[in-house]
Amino acid sequence: MERLTTFEELRAYAGAAPRPLGLVPTMGAVHAGHMSLVERSSRECAATVATLFVNPAQFDDKGDFARYPRDAEGDLAALAAAGADAVFTPPEREVYPAGFATWVRMGGPALPLEGAARPGHFDGVATIVAKLLIGALPDAAYFGQKDGQQVAVVRRLVADLGLSVRVVAAPTVREADGLALSSRNGLLNAEQRRGAAALHRALQAGAAALGEGAGAAEAACRAVLAKEPQVSAVDYVALVDQATMAPWSGQGEAMLAAAVRVGSVRLIDNLLMSAD
Ligand code: PAF
Repeated sequence: MERLTTFEELRAYAGAAPRPLGLVPTMGAVHAGHMSLVERSSRECAATVATLFVNPAQFDDKGDFARYPRDAEGDLAALAAAGADAVFTPPEREVYPAGFATWVRMGGPALPLEGAARPGHFDGVATIVAKLLIGALPDAAYFGQKDGQQVAVVRRLVADLGLSVRVVAAPTVREADGLALSSRNGLLNAEQRRGAAALHRALQAGAAALGEGAGAAEAACRAVLAKEPQVSAVDYVALVDQATMAPWSGQGEAMLAAAVRVGSVRLIDNLLMSAD
């Protein structure tokens, strides 16, 4: 696996790589969910570049940035084992050089849910994703559906900037009890880890109630969360349009999304669904 640390190296690698080229952006703390994205890109593309950069601009809480798990050597080994041909690991100064002043400011799907809870988060995501897409000009870029709002934001970004890249949203990888794989799961103690499985159960209960309407779906989800003592707060439960993140109108594909706190750890998850 080739290691690239500057945008110039990324451009040179991507320019010479066999096509189609797949890009898998990550912030490290690589788990089986990230590896499934790299594996899928390796199956579908002739070359795969993974990226590994803990992006300070998308953390509204500096403590969260400091606590974010980092294991560069383990991450590089995991990305190589999953089939990445190259990894782009820029230092912070490469991404945000002195005097950096150009940001992507996202509206639309970036505003509710995570956007409301974490001001500036999606501007940080959109800025780094735009830089990576412009740097590598890949044919396909792979993201996990666990961050369903991020997928909608990236699709909006790609459409609005007129980028020629296929955005692939890969299914959420889950533990046996349904908990979505996340770099934050490792911050849970044993009791919290057991209780965290309620999030997926709650979303399933919401999906089962969708036939009775959006209100019933959200209420069924909240009812399961309310019964779990390890869930210390529910930030939101919302049934939204998959593309716009606006409240679901009853037409088109929906996403039931929730964000909860288990102890001090914030977890998000979602299920895609339609009323048909
Ligand atoms: O999903 C993530 O890990 C990050 O938001 C991403 C897409 C790598 C941008 O920093």
